[in-house]
Amino acid sequence: MLQGIGLDKRFGGVQALKDATVEVPRGSVTAIVGPNGAGKTTLFNVLCGLHPPDSGRIMLDGSDVTAMPMHLRAARGMTRTFQISRELGELTVAENLLLARQDQTGERLLPALLGVATIRREESLALLEVRSLLERVGLWSLADMPARVLSGGQKKLLELARALMTRPKLLLLDEPAAGVNPTLVKELIGFIRVLRDEGLTIVIVEHNMDMVAAIGDPVYVLAEGSVLTHGSFAEISGDRRVIDAYLGGA
Ligand SMILES: Nc1ncnc2c1ncn2[C@@H]1O[C@H](COP(=O)(O)OP(=O)(O)OP(=O)(O)O)[C@@H](O)[C@H]1O
Ligand SMILES: [Mg+2]
Repeated sequence: MLQGIGLDKRFGGVQALKDATVEVPRGSVTAIVGPNGAGKTTLFNVLCGLHPPDSGRIMLDGSDVTAMPMHLRAARGMTRTFQISRELGELTVAENLLLARQDQTGERLLPALLGVATIRREESLALLEVRSLLERVGLWSLADMPARVLSGGQKKLLELARALMTRPKLLLLDEPAAGVNPTLVKELIGFIRVLRDEGLTIVIVEHNMDMVAAIGDPVYVLAEGSVLTHGSFAEISGDRRVIDAYLGGA
């Protein structure tokens, strides 16, 4: 579904990605792990088109999208969330979701021709979708609260729901479990499994190893911008090089 091939990315003196190659199989939950500063977020930024790679190629669904801007990759079904949530604090939780919706009739030039009835129908469908998504991530009871009052973990869940409003085919989640309490992490794991079973392809960057062990397959280990190894969780977690990378070679 998605390939990053030989990706390099340098920021001044920092080589954030060094010949990194990852393959995301269709229908998988592919996990990217590695110590802080390994280049995981940079990899997401390059894959989704936020930053161009210095060299290397990105293939999405068989076509080369290396030069394609982010919004066109998004239009092809590729959506990502951010490590630091990007909700709009003064809008309500529900409004944040409505705003995430792409391709709404009301926002195009055509609505005058389509008529108010069509717009109303689309709006009520969107509201149903908002409710169902908020229920799925456990935020429905907070739908009318301004997003700024949410806790860090709740903001992560809102970010996930916002991403799902775009009806992605490929979803990149940067640390979805960060700041989320352990009970909710369990639910989040279940939810991500359901999304995968519904046909979504998912890539997660995650430090929570319970989550990676539960759903990550394959798992890629990044260290100092390069892929150290990849395989099943059992394979990579028994690898001495992986343990060394996390311990900083100690
Ligand atoms: N926009 C940028 N400008 C300069 N340096 C950057 C930029 N983005 C990332 N870096 C650097 O690139 C390296 C990789 O950072 P990145 O954020 O990709 O790591 P990460 O694996 O996501 O870490 P974490 O687990 O802490 O989120 C770091 O040394 C970081 O300081
Ligand atoms: Mg990061």
